Order: sequence, then structure tokens, then C-alpha cells
Amino acid sequence: MSGESRGRGATAPEPAQKADKARAWRNFYGRLRGKGLRPAQRAYLEEDLPRLSPGPVSFEENPERAPLDLKARFGARPVWLEVGFGGGEHLVAQAAAHPEVALIGCEPYLNGVAMALGKLRARPLGNVAIYPGDVRDLFDVLPDASISRTYLLYPDPWPKRRHHRRRFVTPEYLRQLRRVMQPGAELFLATDIADYVRQALEEVPRAGFEWLAERPADWRAPWEGWVSTRYEQKALREGRVPHYLRFRRV
Ligand SMILES: C[S@@+](CC[C@H](N)C(=O)[O-])C[C@H]1O[C@@H](n2cnc3c(N)ncnc32)[C@H](O)[C@@H]1O
Repeated sequence: MSGESRGRGATAPEPAQKADKARAWRNFYGRLRGKGLRPAQRAYLEEDLPRLSPGPVSFEENPERAPLDLKARFGARPVWLEVGFGGGEHLVAQAAAHPEVALIGCEPYLNGVAMALGKLRARPLGNVAIYPGDVRDLFDVLPDASISRTYLLYPDPWPKRRHHRRRFVTPEYLRQLRRVMQPGAELFLATDIADYVRQALEEVPRAGFEWLAERPADWRAPWEGWVSTRYEQKALREGRVPHYLRFRRV
């Protein structure tokens, strides 16, 4: 919109323009694409994503940012969220192990989304939905207290001090996460970065979550039903130590 048309007396911005404005403030620093997608992967993205949508999330589909109707989409099932599912190994395994819940996976890296879709072609599941974008877009449209479990597995570490504010464990993300999680719902966070643990233990309780560890084994050993991820396998090969943090939304 030009400066002139925004002047006094101009009509109120259309919803799409309002949405564009909000989106302009949302910087994303991660990778959206890696090496070229194979034709089969491109087909997965084109053919399967619409069916796997959790509902209108993107600014184009939902400029008003209307809340998703999760009951209409998933029935009475509890809804779990996985943020940044990478190649989808954990997402798909959890959905297969828990047909009684619905899982929404969110991942902006398209090659990762294509890998997850490949896994779902090999193992079709009716209880998975995928949003191929930034979790903050999803937070906008998730109703209050709609999520009964969240997995955040090996979030981008942003090791440089000046980049720590890009981490997920910062108030911008945690405030929204708390809003969408039910009281008593659990957040499972795995990381191999000691300084990420430090920041998580400072910021997550400050945002209204309680750390559930009682003894060192509680953060050194994976949770029951743990499914290792590609990133964890890489961390282990490179000699880094996983930490498994479990929090309860107060
Ligand atoms: C280090 S990788 C770990 C991937 C996977 N969880 C694993 O353990 O293999 C972090 C992932 O978080 C995703 N990510 C980064 N920012 C995100 C955001 N704002 N919303 C959703 N996912 C995000 C990245 O694209 C990346 O795939």
C-alpha cells in the first residue's frame, strides 16, 4: 500500500493487508529449502499436503487469523503438537503408536516436510496433520488450551550469544505456547546444547511451566516411548550429550 492511501480518511486496511503487516514483523532465520527436491518429493508436497492440513493457518488462507476448529478436524481426540519435526521420524512414530490422539506437526523446512510425507506414504495414518511453515503462524490460530502435549526436539541451537534471542525458549514463543496448551499439559524438550538447557531452565518456568525433574536420571535418560530423531543421532555421533527436559504447563 502506498503512503498516500494510508493517509487520513483512507478506508480501514483489508484483512489481507493487516495480515501482511503482522507477517512483516516475523523474521524467520532458519532454512526453508535445502538441495533440490526429487520429483517424487515434489509430488508428495503437491498431492498430500492439502489433505494433511490442520485447517487454514497461513496468512493467505486465513487473513483474519480465525481460530482453527480442531473438533471438526480431529473429533474428540486430544491434540499433540510437534514443533520443528525435521524429517518426521518422531512425528510419524508417535502418531502410529497413539491412534487415540491427533498430532499436528509443524516444520518450515520443505525438504524435511517432503521426507515426512514420504514416511506417511509408506505408512498412511489418519491422525496426523502437517503445517509446512513457522510455528508462530500456527500459534496465531490455535485456540486457547487446545493442545494437550508438545514436543520440541532439538530446536535450532543458535549458539552465538547475539542469536540467543532467536531461540524458541524466549518469551515471544513461550507466551503463545502457554496460551495454546491446556493447564497440566506437558512440554517435552530435548537438546544437546548445555547453554540451551540453561536458557530453557530460566525462561520456561518464567513463562508459566514447572520443570518436572526430581533426580538427574530424569533429564539424562529419554522419556518412556522415546523415538530418536535424525538430529539426535548426529549429536550422538559427534559426541554431544542429549538432555531431556519435561515441563508441566501450570
Ligand atoms: C535442529 S532441527 C531438529 C529437527 C528434528 N526435531 C530432529 O530432532 O531431528 C530444528 C528444526 O526446527 C525447525 N524450526 C526452526 N524454526 C522453526 C519455527 N519457527 N517453527 C517451526 N519449526 C522451526 C527447523 O526448520 C529445523 O527443522
